Amino acid sequence: MRDFEITVPVREKQYDELTERERVLVDAARAATGGSYAPYSHFKVGAAILLDNGEVVCGANQENAAYPSGTCAERSACFWAGANFPGSKFEMIAIAAVGTDGEECAEPTAPCGACRQALLEYEKLAGHPVGVLLAGRNKIYCVPSVASLLPLAFSEF
Ligand code: THU
Repeated sequence: MRDFEITVPVREKQYDELTERERVLVDAARAATGGSYAPYSHFKVGAAILLDNGEVVCGANQENAAYPSGTCAERSACFWAGANFPGSKFEMIAIAAVGTDGEECAEPTAPCGACRQALLEYEKLAGHPVGVLLAGRNKIYCVPSVASLLPLAFSEF
């Protein structure tokens, strides 16, 4: 028998501690919340993905009256990137959200389980860790890879 723990490495940074590349991506994710269509939850999420060709692809959550038909910001961004830049590799993703009070969420917004699974596939295609920036109003959590956000992931069949 063996017990073990899997930990998630997180570096918390202030906005002015981000690298230039990280700042650009967090700015893009924050701006992408403007594309959210969230008449049901009123929770606006934006995601921005930096590709290896230098493109920044953005997405926002798109809700639907038939609730499960909607899509999260992260999947709208990664599927759009996959469809429009096939073969390009993801370098980094940033996520930001505006809460029901209309203000950016104070706490960093983390992707849901389904989005982690979807992003993991693109990380595997990239062949290298894809950094994840979870933006909050006054702090940004920097996670070194999608895999570290999804321990014991399903990835083989
Ligand atoms: N949402 C995202 O866009 N990303 C996540 O990772 C979590 C949740 C969206 C889905 C829904 O439109 C709203 O936030 C409330 O759950």
